[in-house]
Amino acid sequence: MNYEESSQKIREKLAAISQTNAEDWHLCLKARFGMALVFEAIRDKLGAGEVITTPYTCITAINPILVAGLTPIYHDIDASILSTGKPDDKYCKGKTKAIVMQHTLGMIGDKTSLRKYADKHKLLLIEDAAHCVTRFARNKDGKILADISVHSFGVEKILTGTKFGGAIYINPELKVKNPALYERIVEKFNKLKAPNFHMNFRVRTYRLNNAIIQRLHGNLRRNFRSFEIKAGILEPPIYPFEQDGQQDEPLTTNKYINERISNQLEILKSNYIRRSANVDLYHTTLRSKHFAKVSKIKEPLLAFPILFETEEKANQAYDMLSSEGFFIRRWYSPLLYPGPNSLKIYRYNPKNAPIAEDVSRRVLCLPTDLPVIETKRIVELLKDLKAPVEKAVENK
Ligand SMILES: Cc1ncc(COP(=O)(O)O)c(C=O)c1O
Repeated sequence: MNYEESSQKIREKLAAISQTNAEDWHLCLKARFGMALVFEAIRDKLGAGEVITTPYTCITAINPILVAGLTPIYHDIDASILSTGKPDDKYCKGKTKAIVMQHTLGMIGDKTSLRKYADKHKLLLIEDAAHCVTRFARNKDGKILADISVHSFGVEKILTGTKFGGAIYINPELKVKNPALYERIVEKFNKLKAPNFHMNFRVRTYRLNNAIIQRLHGNLRRNFRSFEIKAGILEPPIYPFEQDGQQDEPLTTNKYINERISNQLEILKSNYIRRSANVDLYHTTLRSKHFAKVSKIKEPLLAFPILFETEEKANQAYDMLSSEGFFIRRWYSPLLYPGPNSLKIYRYNPKNAPIAEDVSRRVLCLPTDLPVIETKRIVELLKDLKAPVEKAVENK
């Protein structure tokens, strides 16, 4: 099978899983590259202006806006979904072009208010589904809400065996709404360059490199890792220069990545079933002991967020669970993870997002991809914590 055939196979699998059409999916090496193409096309066809987004995200989701010459405007979050809830009109300035609908940790819920907001202000609705590959926000008739939807196979996403790859879905309705923009985006994807020899090498050796780095400790680990990055041996999930609002030239996938994605898509269903089961377990077993509020959301989350009373208690729980060998994430702490080198470059003022700032310090994200026995152990360990905790996901 050649590269084109392997790409087509992935598009068909994505389409079959999500009940969409294969021709509406476009592949890239990292989701951030696809996002940059989309925002550049928006800038080309609609001119300079703003994009409403969230600070409760990874820096790699903001850089594509910046490199396209657009301006991010940060909407504060709804603490119950760790993302933009019902958007406020005050965020929409005269030149706003788009709003980002991010499903943090895969919490989709009901986001029809974002579609309504986009329609009211004539904005494009860009879905960031990096945490819930193949899952979309839909209306009650099953219609996809977004104009463009971003999916990722990258590091620390739903499929743990891929490490690279992004897939962008372009809603075919955009062909009618704005044919020039639609054509421009598709043209950009068709012209994407293939990874060169060095990138192909870094992609193939990523796992091996990480395995070696994980065996080292302390300063040796840090120094070896940064040596490998500087020497062009390791492709890190986030380069240091990405904290300055920059990113590399967009690339498409290669045959090796396609094969991995294709294989992993075969186990996506069981992956989601396992995550759903763990989410259910957290809901039921943590509720009785530590949680003030109970969530009814039954989505297969990337991780299960809990919100502590204070930062100190969150730190205490983090240290305790980590020392027991559990990989606990703190998405997204700091905000614009792993933190910008300059707030000015990102045009971010923490005062304008007090809820996101507060929540980010108190949140912990529990793993959902573990065997049930290990999830139960986390629940047990959290029982011993004296701190009362509150679920970030509210009743729906
Ligand atoms: C919310 C969100 N959007 C987009 C991205 C970018 O994905 P990728 O790593 O495939 O470029 C990330 C990466 O962590 C993310 O967390």
